[in-house]
Amino acid sequence: MVRVGIITASDKGSRGEREDLSGPALKELVQEMGWEVAEYTVLPDDQRLLESTMRLWTDEIKLDLILTTGGTGFSLRDVTPEATLAVADRLVPGIAEVMRQESLKVTPKAMLSRAVAVLRKQTLIINMPGSPKAVRECFSVISPSLPHGIQILK
Ligand code: MTE
Repeated sequence: MVRVGIITASDKGSRGEREDLSGPALKELVQEMGWEVAEYTVLPDDQRLLESTMRLWTDEIKLDLILTTGGTGFSLRDVTPEATLAVADRLVPGIAEVMRQESLKVTPKAMLSRAVAVLRKQTLIINMPGSPKAVRECFSVISPSLPHGIQILK
């Protein structure tokens, strides 16, 4: 069974000022794959907190996959890629490349997402932009290749 963690990075979401729609959208997509959503949290756009959650979920809880949504844009508070790179052992450029490439067919704003994908130990961590529409678009592009990648990591 593939065990997945979902992190929504959103200042407003973490304060309860905005309902998180992207996290639940990701949950649904993960469950449609027949995978288990083992962890889910809404965090503020705080690099230290994002890093420590990713470290805990990789090193202690040993999830196979962590999907993040939000915090990949240009706002000074957008630090999800920086947090992800800080915990990375190895980079997986192809995943971010293909998400941006396919998303560009939907919106030219896709180039504004600084999302990265990395490996830490035996966990794959993938950033996605912060909207339900964006996570659906991004997930549909990469989902066919994920089972093979995750299987190799185990
Ligand atoms: N990618 C897809 N597939 N669909 C989208 O609607 N929105 C873009 C981009 N990537 C979008 C997308 C927009 S408008 C922004 S600002 C960046 O992602 C960063 O979004 P974030 O700051 O919520 O992570």
